[in-house]
Amino acid sequence: MSTIRPDDYIRLAAQILKQNAAELPRQEISAFVSGYIDRKDAFLQAAERHGSPLYLIDTDALRQRAMQFQEAFRNIFAQPPGVYYAVKSNNHPLVIETFLDVDLGLDVSSGVELQIALDLDAFDIVFSGPGKTPDELDLAVRHADRVTVLIDSFSELRRLEACAARSDTHIRAGVRLTSDPNGLWRKFGIAPSELENFLSQADQCPHVSVCGLQFHTSWNMDPARQIAFIGKLAKVLGALSPGFRSQLEFVDIGGGYWPAQGEWLQEAATSAGMLRGILDPDSISRGIPRRMPGTPIETFARELGRAVLEHLAPRLDARICLEPGRWLCNDGMHLLMTVIDCKAPDLVITDAGANAIGWERFEHDYFPVINLTRPAMTERPCNVLGCLCTPHDVWGYSYWGEDIQDGDILMIPTQGAYTYSLRQNFIKALPKAVAIQPPGARTREKTSGR
Ligand SMILES: Cc1ncc(COP(=O)(O)O)c(C=O)c1O
Repeated sequence: MSTIRPDDYIRLAAQILKQNAAELPRQEISAFVSGYIDRKDAFLQAAERHGSPLYLIDTDALRQRAMQFQEAFRNIFAQPPGVYYAVKSNNHPLVIETFLDVDLGLDVSSGVELQIALDLDAFDIVFSGPGKTPDELDLAVRHADRVTVLIDSFSELRRLEACAARSDTHIRAGVRLTSDPNGLWRKFGIAPSELENFLSQADQCPHVSVCGLQFHTSWNMDPARQIAFIGKLAKVLGALSPGFRSQLEFVDIGGGYWPAQGEWLQEAATSAGMLRGILDPDSISRGIPRRMPGTPIETFARELGRAVLEHLAPRLDARICLEPGRWLCNDGMHLLMTVIDCKAPDLVITDAGANAIGWERFEHDYFPVINLTRPAMTERPCNVLGCLCTPHDVWGYSYWGEDIQDGDILMIPTQGAYTYSLRQNFIKALPKAVAIQPPGARTREKTSGR
């Protein structure tokens, strides 16, 4: 029950209204847009060849992100870290294959994702997530040479042991620790205070070797929450029996790294904007996107390295593992669509619907919609809407271009994370996915059936 009094609400509301997220600098958006306009021929060629709408996979961008991530963490910990791409963030096989090619491991969260990883010949897979079914555990056990199961509960430990015993297989495992014991995040893992008990019970499971820990915090605009949990973990490890401590070979500190450009929001989606939207809806401007600041990955690496050195290294000789998803795939897929019905200069309908991304993302998030057919470094107000029978089917409230007309090809860059893998079979057919080739080359068809 809240103890806040009505007068305090007014004070808090005033604070929220004053602390509005900063405007996204105009020159930053312009630089972003011009980079894609410079490459427009390759994108237009893809539309010409494969039709519209499309998911455009930019394997160069994916590779470059993976290399930057690996480089940032290269000399940070006592041992080279294990980097496991979180498949849920974009499960297109070409995206996954691109990361496998640069030697990343995979983090999967279901039997479906595990099967994709196995079919792509991944050999270093961590399988995390709550509520693993008997069939999913069985699949992991059948591939115990390639899979480490990150166990989510005491009951799952018993079920994994029973499953592995049936085929007399030995499987490597870790255990997930709850990073927030309150609210809905409690569903993930076991409480850190239960670790000793868990490891005692695992000792009674001859087919399961628990040799690591995992935690994950999400939406990390900076490493503060990860570092706070590492500090908490140090206390738990300090109290752990030395025998159990010595069996821990890895600590997987999860994903959640937000890209450095920060979160780009429509003003209406900021805390101040939401409040103003209730108090004075007419005051909301569509024109000025806002930004929640991000942190360079190199800073994440440095600060996490310091925290591990201070808190974990004195207690454990363990390899650090990381599970980035969004950070790796965000820039590696773009959406391309065509204006199918220009109903007014400020109202157009495209041939792609929000089912292509699975959620009403652009009601909240801001991303430039670029008119590749009539490019210009000018942003014009216009409701750019999808073709589903719902008014929540929004791509943006403006476009970058000279004008907009029927048949124009539009692109929304950097939509790789939590869009393709959330796509829905709803009303309209889903776009085809194709890879963009480097400048000068032609696009190639998506890799077969994947
Ligand atoms: C356990 C785990 N690891 C890694 C990730 C990847 O997170 P992100 O894509 O934010 O890096 C998630 C996302 O939900 C997760 O649940």
